[in-house]
Amino acid sequence: MRPAKLILGGKEYEFPVIVGTEDEVAIDIRKLRDMTGAITYDPGYVNTGSCKSDITFIDGEKGILRYRGYPIEELAGKLIYSAAAYLVIYGHLPDKEEFKDWRRDLTMNSFLHEHLRKFFDHYPITAHPMNILASMIASMSSFYPEEIDDPNDIDRHIKRIVGQVKTIAAYSYKQFIGKPCIYPRSDHSWSANFLRMMFGTPAEEYQVPKIMEEALDLILILHMDHEQNCSTSTVRMVGSSQSDLYASVASGINALWGRLHGGANEAVLNMLQRIHKDGGNYKKYVDMAKEKGSRFRLMGFGHRVYKNFDPRAKILKDTVTRLLADLGNNDPLLEIAMGLEEVVLKDEFFIERKLYPNVDFYSGIAYRAMGIPTDMFTVLFAMGRMPGWIAHWLEMRTDRDQRIHRPRQLYTGPNLQHL
Ligand code: CMC
Repeated sequence: MRPAKLILGGKEYEFPVIVGTEDEVAIDIRKLRDMTGAITYDPGYVNTGSCKSDITFIDGEKGILRYRGYPIEELAGKLIYSAAAYLVIYGHLPDKEEFKDWRRDLTMNSFLHEHLRKFFDHYPITAHPMNILASMIASMSSFYPEEIDDPNDIDRHIKRIVGQVKTIAAYSYKQFIGKPCIYPRSDHSWSANFLRMMFGTPAEEYQVPKIMEEALDLILILHMDHEQNCSTSTVRMVGSSQSDLYASVASGINALWGRLHGGANEAVLNMLQRIHKDGGNYKKYVDMAKEKGSRFRLMGFGHRVYKNFDPRAKILKDTVTRLLADLGNNDPLLEIAMGLEEVVLKDEFFIERKLYPNVDFYSGIAYRAMGIPTDMFTVLFAMGRMPGWIAHWLEMRTDRDQRIHRPRQLYTGPNLQHL
């Protein structure tokens, strides 16, 4: 493609254009400041490509999401969590041998260091499980301070994090309800182990309901990667200074926690409950969200990238309906959610701004049907997203174009002053 031309201060400059494998076009402005003295201004990085990546492709206009080239519709509901995690992290589907080893490695690495386990005793009962998860993962680097440049060490860090994230998540719940924790089993899948640790007791073997295991695999795979979102960019930002994997993904967990990002799933459920208590008065909440200057937003609607529909929300809506029917669960919040969606999709304000239900809109209802408490919802998002964060951290380290992340700014403060 021909270079892009920029005219600034009457002078013409040319910049190379790069084209991705799906014909996405980027203007390479790496020399912009050197050549012109100017920088770009792009709050929220809406138009800024921070890297090249082979992991995930999204076409927000067409509602396309693919991991390593595979459409999300062919992965979710077909693969189990550990297979999809392998695909996202290592770039290809595992063969039989690789899969056997990977599954075993994940289980054998799912036990917490006994000293780390004692940390749970010191969190107050009010601690949010996202806070516990981030601190526990960050603390793991004190227990496993291996080389951050040796590929074998890195591989061990990866297996520990993917193996232990579910153990930490389940233990933080058990700690909260004051019940004993149980350890994972090698004859259970990753998702079955999580459900067993959440709901099982040492007194008798917990039979993981197949339907819950399958639904969890599907939901976690839907969340597994989403290219340069806020938390993934945070992982890359922190990792760009050569912080270790534990510190980098722990920062990602903290970024995910906010309610404009992963924390939206918890916020959606709280909002649906409020609407339900209000007798299903959707209009009041829709009007509140539309009010000029109001900070209230309809949680679970809108997306920076999807301007048509979020393919993950579409899959989730079907899954939730099936899950509730199979579990014999008549959740009134599902009806509220469907009613709200119907009103919003017909409303000019939301149509004009291309605001559709996103992945967080229906995930909470699915988790609720499985008996997962509301403040664990974002933790489940983090468990799903973990392989994505790891894949981006790994990719960044071998990308020769990557440098320490250090954006510029436009200074708008006072000019030189003296005392
Ligand atoms: N309810 C009401 N108005 C909204 C909403 C919403 N949920 N989302 C966007 N808008 C309006 C916003 O007020 C603005 O209107 P105007 O042009 O009149 O100022 C316009 O739509 C564009 O919004 P924006 O904030 O500039 O868009 P963004 O791309 O910066 O933000 C978003 C994207 C997801 C943060 C935002 O849509 C939002 O706050 N949604 C609710 C929170 C949510 O569900 N987050 C989960 C996102 S999906 C999963 C994930 O990434 O974790």
